[in-house]
Amino acid sequence: MLLNLFDYERAARERVAASAWDYQAGGANDEVTLRANRAAWEAIEIRYRTMVDVSRRAMATTVLGVPVSMPILVAPTAMQKLAHPDGESGMARAAAAAGALLVVSTTATTGLSDVAAVEPASPKWFQVYVYAGREHTEALVAQAVAAGYRALMLTVDTPVLGRRERDIRSGFTLPAGMQIANAVEAGMGAVPTATGEASGLMRHFRGLHDPSIAPRDIQWLRDLSGLPVVVKGIVRGDDARRAIDHGASAIVVSNHGGRQLDTAIATARALPEVVAAVDGQVEVYVDGGIRRGSDVLKALAMGARGVLVGRPPVWGLAVDGAAGAQHVLELLRDELDLAMALAGCPSLSDITPDLLAGAGAR
Ligand SMILES: Cc1cc2nc3c(=O)[nH]c(=O)nc-3n(C[C@H](O)[C@H](O)[C@H](O)COP(=O)(O)O)c2cc1C
Repeated sequence: MLLNLFDYERAARERVAASAWDYQAGGANDEVTLRANRAAWEAIEIRYRTMVDVSRRAMATTVLGVPVSMPILVAPTAMQKLAHPDGESGMARAAAAAGALLVVSTTATTGLSDVAAVEPASPKWFQVYVYAGREHTEALVAQAVAAGYRALMLTVDTPVLGRRERDIRSGFTLPAGMQIANAVEAGMGAVPTATGEASGLMRHFRGLHDPSIAPRDIQWLRDLSGLPVVVKGIVRGDDARRAIDHGASAIVVSNHGGRQLDTAIATARALPEVVAAVDGQVEVYVDGGIRRGSDVLKALAMGARGVLVGRPPVWGLAVDGAAGAQHVLELLRDELDLAMALAGCPSLSDITPDLLAGAGAR
């Protein structure tokens, strides 16, 4: 039975090739942060309200002015054809069917214009990794604007790729017939094979990605695109302020799902500092280890406008293509609805900091 996201995790594991599974599931080094992300949400206790009329509940909201059916967004995850042949196109159909905003990765196995053409009316943002050959990123950004993406999401926690030892051990690279479509289209060639000390993806990053990302790149992307820039991968208040001072329209508190710097702070613990530093000036989102509707409730109570989920929709895709990914999003929606009812929150504006105790209390 597929009753919750962990059921999908188990089912996906049976369907995905071992090295692809390790790539999707794994984290950096000892995977301390990967576990800590999850544990931190679990540790926060909810001081639920009673005797509130919760017979009518609503969770539709907006993110950067874009209407969405729920405060749960699909995080950018690379190479979705590893999970299912429908890959990014299947994910786009799932997000549209669930009324969720989709963030499409630079490192996708489907070109960004092709993903945009799937359910074109459904809102999408394009996640940017900056290539050392800046002209390649400029071309991708121009393509993203033409294709109707509503915002850019600049990932700043990945100046170089984290050390994912599962991928080094397995010699992970893309199987024949799959490529990072945006890189190939820009003339940057195929993902290399693995060597004994580096996965194919590590070598791809080393060869092509720019490790000199700076705050001025936020303004650069704004000027190039005319789109709002969401900065993803922040865990400190001062970094959030620097991003805003350089034109960021929103912040994602994220440690890349524990895949970059191991022993990095869990996102649930970083969120309050960032929310306080941002002080309502821009929207703040959070990701990492969100697996239950009650986690979403906690994130919102801490001041997040919304959450992103990375691995879970990929598990859904692996199990049943677009329908599976949609079901994962609907399960989370139903769980958030239940958590709102049981916490005495008929609307999102009722989800306030006083609902939290313990580690989440401010
Ligand atoms: C398989 C996989 C691929 C990812 N690829 C990207 C990517 O291309 N760009 C990016 O900004 N983040 C990427 N991430 C990080 C996610 O956007 C997100 O921050 C993280 O998965 C959230 O944690 P969760 O998986 O526990 O929900 C990836 C994560 C995973 C698991």
